Amino acid sequence: MAHFIVLLGPPGAGKGTQAATICEALEIPHISSGELFREHLAKQTELGKLADGYIRCGQLVPDEITVRMVGDRLKQPDCANGALLDGFPRTIPQAQALDDLLARMGAQVEMVISLEVPPEILVERLSGRWSCPNCGRVYHEKNNPPQRSGVCDRDGTLLIQRLDDRPETVWQRIEVYLSRTQPLVEYYRQKGILVNVDGARSIEEVRQSILSILAGVR
Ligand code: AP5
Ligand code: MG
Repeated sequence: MAHFIVLLGPPGAGKGTQAATICEALEIPHISSGELFREHLAKQTELGKLADGYIRCGQLVPDEITVRMVGDRLKQPDCANGALLDGFPRTIPQAQALDDLLARMGAQVEMVISLEVPPEILVERLSGRWSCPNCGRVYHEKNNPPQRSGVCDRDGTLLIQRLDDRPETVWQRIEVYLSRTQPLVEYYRQKGILVNVDGARSIEEVRQSILSILAGVR
């Protein structure tokens, strides 16, 4: 059976950090809508330039554009056995569009893992985040530093800070999460596929919780 898993949670909840654990356990690709937009921007595509205007000020990219981009990604052959969706869906219309996209593939969302973290912790996490622009691996200057300061452990690329991690943009992203994305918790709870995870604990504790949840999926 194909495993389509949604990783839900506010900015800085640890979605990108925990993604590898889920993808390795279920042997599925990682699809982050934010990463897809950043890849488009790095290549200076029209889509990337359009999305950048929204991302910079902490707003959501319009549903139609986002759904088309993720829909194209889900049609790639590596998604035949499922995928981990990180940061998508983020609105009720996106969730309905995902249900339609998967139904056409003869599949459905199997489980939604909701990482729950209070806002004051999110700001601290995002202000110390450094990411690899090449492989997407995420670090934190205090909580999860690279072995060599400023350099990715995996591929040696110089780490960067995201433009949307400035405190004023982070607060805007949190507000957008609460008004536009939080309703998805109820949407998926009603479908009976929501699993809540306390994301305010250490990276390793959260990882262990996710692994025990996945033991029931394999
Ligand atoms: P996106 O890239 O998806 O950003 P986000 O959802 O705001 O989430 P982040 O990537 O900031 O956080 P994360 O949960 O992945 O945390 P991480 O693991 O890095 O989206 C960016 C933008 O693109 C959006 O604002 C929007 O404009 C647009 N967009 C994307 N998808 C869209 C959609 N579907 N619709 C419309 N627009 C869309 O961890 C954060 C930091 O904390 C790291 O430094 C990490 O080391 C540290 N950390 C992680 N876990 C822990 C822990 N347990 N303890 C201590 N530190 C931890
Ligand atoms: Mg992320």
